[in-house]
Amino acid sequence: MQSRVWLAFNVELVKNKRDTQLRLDIMMRSNFSLKSVSCAILALLAITLSSACTNTSGPSEKIIEYARSATPENPETAEIYQRSCMACHGNGTSDAPLTGDKNAWQPRMEKGMDTLLDNVVSGMGGMPPYGLCMDCNAAEFQALITFMATPAQI
Ligand code: HEC
Repeated sequence: MQSRVWLAFNVELVKNKRDTQLRLDIMMRSNFSLKSVSCAILALLAITLSSACTNTSGPSEKIIEYARSATPENPETAEIYQRSCMACHGNGTSDAPLTGDKNAWQPRMEKGMDTLLDNVVSGMGGMPPYGLCMDCNAAEFQALITFMATPAQI
């Protein structure tokens, strides 16, 4: 009697073991396929992202070149521009919208001149308050913005 129970118990154990093995196997297999599916998704994402990046590449070499040398016609505006704004807006190395870069300025101009003036005065992102021109008045800022936002003729 005792040995029969022992045997039954053992058989049960073996069965359980096989069951567990089987379950483990299934889990591993589904895990594996899950992994490969997520890898495929990641790879696809990477491709999409990298092509998205190349599609929305920044200003062209020509615009960068234009921004480096462009300056307002009005000598007073030109003086302020060169002293205060050009270091960032004439230089392709910061996040500032480049002078003459239509794509960068269009969405900003759509906010309206008042908003732009407010943002220059209070500073925005990498731009310090007043765009570093502490004594500029609204008319001067407006002339500077209009100049920078005018698309480069290239
Ligand atoms: C130290 C660098 C720096 C200087 C100097 C600077 N800017 Fe900027 N400017 C930026 C950056 C960076 C942005 C983009 C900010 C953002 O989108 O977060 C910006 C954005 C702007 C915008 C767009 C604001 C908007 O609402 O989208 C205007 C207008 C502007 N600058 C005008 C000026 C004027 C005028 C001067 C000179 C008097 C000037 N900036 C000087 C860095 C600078």
